[in-house]
Amino acid sequence: MADELFVELTAPNGNKYKQPRGLFINNEFVKSKSGETITSINPSDEKEIISVYAAGPEDVDLAVDAARKAFKNPEWRDIDTTARGELMYKFAQLIEEHRETLAAIETWDNGKPYSVSLNEDLAEVIGTIKYYAGYSNKIHGQVIDTSPAKLAYTIREPLGVCGQIIPWNFPLAMAAWKLGPAICTGNTVVLKAAEQTPLSILYLATLVKEAGFPPGVINILNGEGRKAGAALAQHLGVDKIAFTGSTATGKEIMKMAAVNMKNITLETGGKSPLLVFDDADLDQAVKWAHIGIMYNQGQVCTATSRILVQDGIYDKFVEGFKEYVSTASVVGDPFKDDTFQGPQVTKQQYERVLSYIESGKSEGAKLVAGGEAYKNVGGKGFFISPTIFTGVKDDMKIYREEVFGPFVVISSFKTEEEAIERANDTSYGLGAAVFTQDITKGHRLARLIEAGMVWINSSNDSDIRIPFGGVKQSGIGRELGEAGLAAYTNQKAIHVNLGNKL
Ligand code: NAI
Ligand code: MG
Repeated sequence: MADELFVELTAPNGNKYKQPRGLFINNEFVKSKSGETITSINPSDEKEIISVYAAGPEDVDLAVDAARKAFKNPEWRDIDTTARGELMYKFAQLIEEHRETLAAIETWDNGKPYSVSLNEDLAEVIGTIKYYAGYSNKIHGQVIDTSPAKLAYTIREPLGVCGQIIPWNFPLAMAAWKLGPAICTGNTVVLKAAEQTPLSILYLATLVKEAGFPPGVINILNGEGRKAGAALAQHLGVDKIAFTGSTATGKEIMKMAAVNMKNITLETGGKSPLLVFDDADLDQAVKWAHIGIMYNQGQVCTATSRILVQDGIYDKFVEGFKEYVSTASVVGDPFKDDTFQGPQVTKQQYERVLSYIESGKSEGAKLVAGGEAYKNVGGKGFFISPTIFTGVKDDMKIYREEVFGPFVVISSFKTEEEAIERANDTSYGLGAAVFTQDITKGHRLARLIEAGMVWINSSNDSDIRIPFGGVKQSGIGRELGEAGLAAYTNQKAIHVNLGNKL
C-alpha cells in the first residue's frame, strides 16, 4: 500500500472510491522525487485516513515545465475558444457525475457537514466552472479609433503559467474559483492544495484528464506551504501567483513573487463587522448573524466575526442570538443529517480557537455561551462549542484578531458615526454587514465602510457572478464574476500603420 498511486477507500458514509495519492503532472499521477508524503487526518475522530505524495522544489519544477510546454502547445494555445469552453463544460459535467464521491471525500478530510459539501460546495464548484466556461468564447479586445492612418486594437491574452495556492476551508470550491477564470482565458496552471486537506483535489484531478484537457494545462500538487508553496511563489517560470489564505502568508508570497515581478492576486484574512441598528428586523439580524459567523465551523474569511449592536436593541439582540445559536448550531458527526457544525479542520486550528477562548477569559470579556471543547461526539475530534463573548473592549485580542472558528464577539455602539468608525477600526477590509430598515442609511453606510463587500440585511451572501475580494490587508484583486477575468489576462495593444509615412 505504502507506495501505490491509487488506493481503494471507503468513506464513513459507505462511499467506496479509488483515492489517487500522487502528484498530478502532465495528466499523470507520479510520486514525489523525494518520496515525501503528508498524512490526511479525519478531524472527526483524529484517525489517519491515508498519506499522499508531497511535492518539493524539484517536483514543482517538473509541474511548471509541464505547464510551460502546455502553454506553448498549439493544441492549447491556438484552440478554438468555443472548444476551450466545451472542455470546461465537460469537466463540470464530470464533477456533477462524481458529486457524491467528491462531497464524501471533502467531508471526511475537512469535517464540514456532508449536506453542505454536497449541496453547497459542490454546487459552487460546478456553477463556477460552468460560469467561466461560458466566458471562454467571450474574451475579446477592442478596436480603438484614432485616425484613418492607423488601425489600433487590443487583444486580451492569457498571462502564462499561473501558480495557484489554495486553503483548506473550502478546498474544492477554492480550486474552482481559481481554475475557472485561469482556464477560460487560456492560461495553464500549477495548483497547490492545502496540506490539511489533500484528498478531494486529487480525485478532481482524475476528472481533469477524463474531460480531455491536454497534458500540462492543469497540474495539481499537494505539499507543504513552506516547501511546495514557496517554491511555486518564487519560481522564475511562473508568471502569476494567486493565493487564498492568511494575511501573514499573503505578505510572504508578495515578497517571493517580487523575484520576477509576478502578477499577483491575494485573498486573505478578515475581522468583518456586522452592524445591527435599533431599526433593524431583529429576527432577521439574529439569523443572518448566526450564518455569518457559525457557517463552515466559522472557518470563513468573510465571517462577520465582530457584531456591533446599537444600544437600544443590544440586550434583546444578545438574548435572541444566544438562544438561536443554542438551537441552530447543532454540533456533531458531519455525516449526520442534522449536523450544522462539524469539527475544526485540524488539531492546530482547534487549539488556536481554544487559545483565543482563554485569551477572552483572561482579558476580562464576558463569556455568554460555549467557551470549551465539545466532547459529545465519541469523545474524539476537534469539536468546539459555539462561543459568544460580550463585554469586549476594542483593544482586546479577541476583538482585533481573526480567530477562524465558531467564535464571535459582540459589542455595542450609540451613534451611526461611532458605528462607522468602529467598523473601520481594523487592518482588514473584506466584508461588512449592515442591518437597518432605513434604506437610505443602508446605502449611506455601504459607501462609508472600508470593505470589498457590503451586505445590507444579510451576511456572507456570496454569488459566483459577483466580484469577491478585499481592501486594506484583506487582499489584492478580485475573484468571481466578470471582474475575476481581469486577474488572468493582459491587454495587448497592437498598432497597425495604415499610411503614416516618414
Ligand atoms: P496559510 O495562509 O499559511 O495557508 C494557506 C495556503 O498557503 C496553504 O496552501 C499553505 O500550504 C500555503 N502556504 C503556507 N505558507 C506558505 C509559504 N510560505 N509560501 C507559499 N505558500 C504557503 O494558513 P494556515 O496556516 O493554514 O491557517 C492559519 C490562519 O490563516 C487561519 O487560522 C485563518 O485565520 C487564516 N486562513 C484564512 C483563509 C481564508 O480563506 N482567507 C483560509 C485559510 C486560513
Ligand atoms: Mg484532514
